Amino acid sequence: MKENILVTGGAGYIGSQNCKELYKNNFHPITFDNLSTGRKDFVKWGELIQEDLKDFQKIDEAIKKYKPKAVMHFAANALVAESIKDPQKYYENNVLATLNLLKAMLKNSVKYLIFSSSCATYGMPKFSPIIESHPQDPISAYGRTKYMIEQILKDYEKAYDFNYVSLRYFNAAGADLEAEVGENRDEETHLIPLAIDTALKKIDKLNVYGFDYDTKDGTAIRDYIHIQDLASAHLKALFYLFSTNRSVELNLGSDNGYSILEIIDEIEKHTNTKIDVKRCSKREGDPAILFANSSKAKKILGWKAQNSDLKTIITSAIKWHKKKNLL
Ligand SMILES: NC(=O)c1ccc[n+]([C@@H]2O[C@H](COP(=O)([O-])OP(=O)(O)OC[C@H]3O[C@@H](n4cnc5c(N)ncnc54)[C@H](O)[C@@H]3O)[C@@H](O)[C@H]2O)c1
Repeated sequence: MKENILVTGGAGYIGSQNCKELYKNNFHPITFDNLSTGRKDFVKWGELIQEDLKDFQKIDEAIKKYKPKAVMHFAANALVAESIKDPQKYYENNVLATLNLLKAMLKNSVKYLIFSSSCATYGMPKFSPIIESHPQDPISAYGRTKYMIEQILKDYEKAYDFNYVSLRYFNAAGADLEAEVGENRDEETHLIPLAIDTALKKIDKLNVYGFDYDTKDGTAIRDYIHIQDLASAHLKALFYLFSTNRSVELNLGSDNGYSILEIIDEIEKHTNTKIDVKRCSKREGDPAILFANSSKAKKILGWKAQNSDLKTIITSAIKWHKKKNLL
């Protein structure tokens, strides 16, 4: 019989790609999602429990019923700017909801968790590439919720029969290689979907913040990791937990930095259009360069990013956006 894995946030961008990966690898993903930002039609590889993690009874019932071998925890609010304006929403939905999940897991003897953490826990980089021992000093409420949850997991591991892998993603990007799921936010703030929408003429102009960074072309450099590579890392993290009963924090990035202008060039190349750019001044708190060193994940999980070259990220995202516009 297939092992059940509970996937909170399985109707979202990254969670749904992980459900597909679990399904392809003979697990049975069960999505627990309130559809606040997720889509019902992204839940294609197992059932959906449409409930809110802030409701302890509901997550307790779900875990009692399905007895998952492990939980993958993607559910969260994840917009940095919104978290600064409305921290209460973030502390409740990210931290409080995670405490509910952990309580239900302990109560029902589920001992493995994979947690979606973030490079936002590092704050302003003191050096790049960023390794896991880089100081964690988040500068937004969002980053602090992820940092707090990491600390909570460490305490739980010491006190209870419980193990976790905290995966610190850099910028998740691209779409499912068969264009089944991809980025789809009501209020988009991420560069790649906005630039593609500009190329596809759904938006007039793309705002680019900062042309005077100390980088090769003056624009900011970031590390983009394809969602399929995130999914393969989660699967390996699951096997790591099952086979070692140990806990760990790991960066997940491509270890390559691309500038904003490089991203725009690549999208222009694959859409045969010119993207109209509005030059805006730098935003506070946006570092010039941010990219990962993921060698710990490579060593511990035997994982390697295989789809995070710029061409695969951009072409998969364009394919998904064209399909999404027809849905
Ligand atoms: N996208 C990135 O670049 C990135 C980078 C680092 C970390 N992360 C983390 O990865 C995870 C997934 O991000 P995403 O980009 O797929 O976001 P998303 O918004 O697409 O997915 C989040 C999912 O969680 C669900 N959800 C939110 N609150 C819930 C609640 N209280 N109860 C039940 N379901 C709830 C939403 O409906 C949605 O389906 C998040 O934890 C995010 O912080 C994302």
